[in-house]
Amino acid sequence: MSDRFNLTGQAALITGGASGIGKAIAQAFLEAGARVWIGSRTAEKVETAVAELGESASEGAVLGQSLDVTDDGSVEETTAKALESFGRIDILVNSAGIIIKKPTEELTLEEFNTVHESHVTGTLRCCKAVATAMKEQGSGSIINIASISSFVDLVEVTAYAAAKSAILGLTRSLANEWAKHGIRTNAIAPGFIPTDLNRKFLEGTERGRRIIENTPMERFGTAEEISGAAVFLSSPAASFVNGHTLVVDGGYLACGIGDSYAPWARPDE
Ligand SMILES: NC(=O)c1ccc[n+]([C@@H]2O[C@H](COP(=O)([O-])OP(=O)(O)OC[C@H]3O[C@@H](n4cnc5c(N)ncnc54)[C@H](OP(=O)(O)O)[C@@H]3O)[C@@H](O)[C@H]2O)c1
Repeated sequence: MSDRFNLTGQAALITGGASGIGKAIAQAFLEAGARVWIGSRTAEKVETAVAELGESASEGAVLGQSLDVTDDGSVEETTAKALESFGRIDILVNSAGIIIKKPTEELTLEEFNTVHESHVTGTLRCCKAVATAMKEQGSGSIINIASISSFVDLVEVTAYAAAKSAILGLTRSLANEWAKHGIRTNAIAPGFIPTDLNRKFLEGTERGRRIIENTPMERFGTAEEISGAAVFLSSPAASFVNGHTLVVDGGYLACGIGDSYAPWARPDE
């Protein structure tokens, strides 16, 4: 592998790293030579993921424990343990989050705040927790996970859309403030990736069919297809990339309202 995409010697902390996109990023980081620490609220899920990821990794390269990004103490403890184990934190990926889908009239303010807390405040909390170590090192890469809903409405996910839009502002602010410390802050906006988060809204549903119809690549993506963007943003190849949101969506945002090229929508040939 070219050194430009090599993460050997780097240590990553991945919130929400026990499933879906976070877990796929952990796998890709390991393949690129990094060590990873993964965390989410469900301890058994983290244990299983650490064991699975560890099967093809070197001894001690994958560690993890339960982590709640909405809790100061939990984030502080996780950061301290990751630092103690690896001696450094070079990369933070903020992939933890939840979604609530319901008409806005039925969405309570408490639910809105819960979603905001998990994505936005949780992301900021983790960024602040790793910043001290990154500043001392004089380098670091923070990757926040945004969404297509940072740019367009996805219907009845108001709290999620507001949170994912805020992620863009947070990313820009940190990119601007912390570059002087050698910390680059970027975001990835994944398209539609069936995971535990959203599988029930996408697979076999009318909504899913319409999404594919408006995706030039005529399919959903996979978590693995998001992970390469995270390797790139963390690697020396991205040394001048800061404050950017990299959309990985099979062309969904480019589609607009033009004719669909999905097989069932094509005119008879
Ligand atoms: N899948 C998509 O199509 C898509 C598209 C755009 C953006 N995203 C974003 O990508 C990220 C990953 O989602 P995913 O699709 O991979 O779904 P996922 O598999 O459900 O991953 C989300 C993870 O976050 C963890 N989590 C939730 N709340 C947490 C908290 N308070 N503290 C720590 N961990 C927490 C969950 O585990 P626990 O329940 O164990 O805590 C879960 O493992 C999310 O930010 C999501 O919004 C996904």
